[in-house]
Formats: sequence, structure tokens, C-alpha cells
Amino acid sequence: MTSKHHSYQDLPSDVIQDRLPRHVAVIMDGNGRWAKQRGMPRIMGHRRGVDALKDLLRCCRDWGVEALTAYAFSTENWGRPTEEVDFLMMLFERILRRELREMMEENVQIRFIGNLEALPSSLQVEIDRAVETTKHNTGIQFSVATNYGGRQELVQVCRAIAAEVQAGKANLEDIDEAMFERHLYTNGICDPDLLIRTSGEMRISNFLLWQLAYSEIYVTETLWPDFDRAEFHRALCGYQARDRRFGKVKAV
Ligand code: IPE
Ligand code: IPE
Ligand code: MG
Repeated sequence: MTSKHHSYQDLPSDVIQDRLPRHVAVIMDGNGRWAKQRGMPRIMGHRRGVDALKDLLRCCRDWGVEALTAYAFSTENWGRPTEEVDFLMMLFERILRRELREMMEENVQIRFIGNLEALPSSLQVEIDRAVETTKHNTGIQFSVATNYGGRQELVQVCRAIAAEVQAGKANLEDIDEAMFERHLYTNGICDPDLLIRTSGEMRISNFLLWQLAYSEIYVTETLWPDFDRAEFHRALCGYQARDRRFGKVKAV
């Protein structure tokens, strides 16, 4: 099969299997602009964005990526019009209900990162159900950042550690990077190797501030609903062309 006529079911031949990112994080941006370009309401962009995420998840699984983390709703996104926020919460709830069976069939382990207590209680119920049901699955680790903010996460870690010290369960000298990481929402998942942001914006927008310390960043002009396997293929090729030096002189 030539790569030109590749169906993208299998890992493209120009992507080196053992140099795949283990963990891909994605800032799914540009849904609103995608809809606006078509004269549609913004929520239509979010709806189409779900299809793009579903396909990326399946693609990561097919190609052998171990973990995918998607930024679905930031702590700053509460500042959007109420109708848009309400629509998103309803959409998250509906997708979870609709996709749970398929996630089980595909051996996906889903988890949510962020301050989940502030989400509508009906959504929390669906989140708990999905996390609980899929927790023994051994396939791809799929994390959805919902009401997630990197600063909020770091403050939450500081509080948890301070409480341990105050209760006499830990000493000041025990605080190190490993202890810090144990309190992050992402505990147990390796840091992202590759961060993808769509819609051309060159910023982190409060995503995974600790975990992105040494991630390779790939920005594409493509709007999120148009992000497909061919786009992901381009991102992986871009990633594999990078020298990851981690502060040293030579790439490791
Ligand atoms: C990303 O798309 C989705 C969320 C933040 C929920 P946007 O809604 O930010 O789309 P643009 O950036 O306005 O085009
Ligand atoms: C980042 O996108 C958050 C999500 C994708 C959920 P935003 O559209 O909220 O970010 P800014 O406003 O462009 O920084
Ligand atoms: Mg945006």
C-alpha cells in the first residue's frame, strides 16, 4: 500500500512506531469559528467537534498511542454566554450516556480532570458512571479536562500537601516533585509528549501547566471540527522531526 493512497486505518508507513508519542494532549480550539464560517450558531461547531474527538480517540487507539487528554472546558469558559455553557454541559452529559457502551467495547479507560464538583450534578452522575464502568479497561487512557484550569490544579495540590503537613502526616522536607505529582489530577499518567492546538492560537490557555514542561508543541491553523486523521498524521510527522533535548546538548 502506498502512503499516498493510505486509508489511515493503520499507522502510516512514515511514522516510526517506537518513536510515537506515548501521550498526546489536545487543545480543541476553533469550534465557534468553524460554525461562524458556515453561518451556523457556535453550538453547531461544538457538536461537530465531538465527532472529531471521537475519531482522534479511535485513531490514537488504532495507531498505538497510550494516552489522550482533551481540553473540553476550561475554568475560564464559564465566562461565555449562559446558553453556550448550558449547551456544552448538556452535550457532555449526552455523549457520555451515548458512548459508554462503545468505550467498553473498545477497552477505553476514561477519566476526568478538573474541578468536577462545580459541574451540574446530573453531569457528575454520568461522569462517575463512566469512570467507574471503564476503570478496569486496559486500552487507551482517555482523560477529559472539564472545568479544568492549570492554576486551579496547582493550588489544589498545594492545599492537599499543606493539609498533610498540618496533620503531621508529612514533613516539609518530604515535599518534592514526585509528591507533587501524586496530587495532580493526572497522577499515574505520563506527561504529554506532544501538545496539539488547533485554530492557530499560540498559547496554552491554562492547560496542564505542570505537565507540559517538556512537551513538544504543534499548532495547526485547521479548526477543530476539521481535524482528521490526515491532520494527526501531519502532527506526528512534525513531532518525529523534533530534537527532544530536555535541556541537554544532544537529543535523547
Ligand atoms: C473550543 O472552541 C471549544 C471550547 C472552548 C469549549 P471555541 O468555542 O473556543 O471556538 P472559537 O475559538 O471561538 O472559534
Ligand atoms: C481553550 O480554548 C479551552 C478549550 C479548548 C476547552 P479557549 O477558546 O477557551 O481559549 P482562548 O480563550 O482562545 O485562550
Ligand atoms: Mg477558542
